[in-house]
Parts: sequence; structure tokens; C-alpha cells
Amino acid sequence: MGESEVYEDFHDIPENDAYEEASKLIKNHKGKVIAFTGSGISAEAGIPTFRGKDGLWNKYKPEELATPEAFRRDPRKVWEWYKWRMKKIAKAEPTLAHKVLAKWEERGIILGIVTQNVDGLHQRAGSKEVVELHGSIWRVRCTRCGKEYNLGFGNVPEEDLPKCKECGGLLRPAVVWFHEPLPARNWMMAESLFNEAEVILVVGTSGLVYPAASLPVNAAVQGKALIEINPEDTPLTSLSRVKIKAKASEAFKKLEEMVS
Ligand code: APR
Repeated sequence: MGESEVYEDFHDIPENDAYEEASKLIKNHKGKVIAFTGSGISAEAGIPTFRGKDGLWNKYKPEELATPEAFRRDPRKVWEWYKWRMKKIAKAEPTLAHKVLAKWEERGIILGIVTQNVDGLHQRAGSKEVVELHGSIWRVRCTRCGKEYNLGFGNVPEEDLPKCKECGGLLRPAVVWFHEPLPARNWMMAESLFNEAEVILVVGTSGLVYPAASLPVNAAVQGKALIEINPEDTPLTSLSRVKIKAKASEAFKKLEEMVS
């Protein structure tokens, strides 16, 4: 950047400088970086996002499929939809972005990942420190006794209405539905990662869903640096120190070359 050039706004930084800026932040804060991810990081694995042109919520009504009321009203329909999603995810492979984040955890560059995703692809890629704010599509919970079962990635229940082995009660996906509180333990783990972080990689999220989105917002308010990686702008863009307008895998391919 020549002396005379002054960027009006962080977002005027031309793309290649955004990568420069981002890689400098990551290297200078090595070990104090976390990732906050949304469905966009799994889009290139063929898993549909929720919003945007091909989003799930354009085709289906969340209130008919992803609320406790919907499950009470028609558990078979909800299970059918979740099994459709599970089969889709079971065929998916982690993307390059998932893999780079796993490598950066191993190399001590990032502390861990707070994800809104339930697909389990971060763990499949080898990430260990993963906080699943919205639960996991590969876990189920008994609606009667509360017992949780880990199905394991790719294991889709056979039965129409899976039942609890302990009490025979109806099982449900152990994901957070609309109007439901987030699991307190996961929330606390997410908060402690955000408290420790100085730089937050915000990857593939529309930043519209609370309370999850309050985590990066509060981090920015505390003066922490957000690096947003998303081909679109979101409510988090204006709070970000750096905006990389790119798909996750393209961005992480370039960042991996610059950071390692
Ligand atoms: N790389 C990076 N970002 C991408 C890509 C990609 N290849 N493709 C799409 N995106 C971005 C979109 O621009 C959008 O901003 O990913 C974001 C996806 O937004 P949503 O579909 O709203 O997904 P998410 O933010 O994860 O939704 C949050 O909403 O429905 C609930 O519980 C559900 O966890 C989910 C929550």
C-alpha cells in the first residue's frame, strides 16, 4: 500500500491484500485463533445450506420440520426429513477447508472450532476440539428418559420411528431446533474458546441465527479481529477486520500457502 493510498474502509482492501492481512493476523496470533463455522463450509461437500438460492429453507418450512411442535405433530415426517439429510451427509467428504482447519489445530495455529453445523465433517477431517452449538445429526435422544445415543457418522436408523433401548420411548435427533435452548455445556465451551481467542475465522455463516451469532458479534465488540470468509456479505461483514469474498476451499487453499 503506497503512502498516498488510504483505504476508506477495511473492505476496500483489494483481495490479495485481504489474504495478506488475514495471514498476518493468523501468524501473529498463532495459538489464539479459533474458527466459527456455518453450513457454507460444507456447501462444497454437496450439503445444502439453509439460506441463499438453493437453501433448505427455500424448499421446506422450518416450522414443519425443525421445531419440537413439528416433531410432536408428525414425528414420522420429521424423521423422514432427517434421514434424508443423514443419507446426504453420509456420502459427503470433508472439504479442503475442513481439512486445513484440522491441520492448523494439529500444528497449534488454531485452538479449536465452534460450529453451528450438525454434519460432523469437522471431526471427520480430524479436528478434535469441536464445539457443536446446535448438536449433532449423528446423535439421538430419548423423548421419554432423555438418554442420548451416539449413532456414529453415517449410521442412519432403519426404523421409521426409532425407539429407546432403555425405556422404549421415541427417539429424536439430538439437534437444537428453533425455539429450543442450546445445550448449556456446549455454550460454555464455546464461550471459553471465544474468550481465549484473539482472532476468529468466521466461515460460511449468514450470521442471522441467535444466540450463536452473538458470539462473533461480542468478540468484535471486544475488539477481537474477525476474518470473514464468505462469497456473500452478511451482518458480520461490517464487524470484520478482514473480508475474504471467496468460497471456503479457495480461501483456505490460499491461506494455507501463506500461513505455513
Ligand atoms: N464457502 C463459504 N461460504 C459459503 C459457501 C462456500 N462455498 N457457500 C455458501 N456460503 C455462505 C452463504 O453465503 C451464507 O452466508 O454460507 C452461509 C450459509 O448461511 P445459512 O444457510 O444461513 O447457514 P448458517 O449460517 O450455518 O445457519 C445457521 O440456521 O437454520 C439454522 O440451525 C441452522 O445452524 C443453522 C443456523
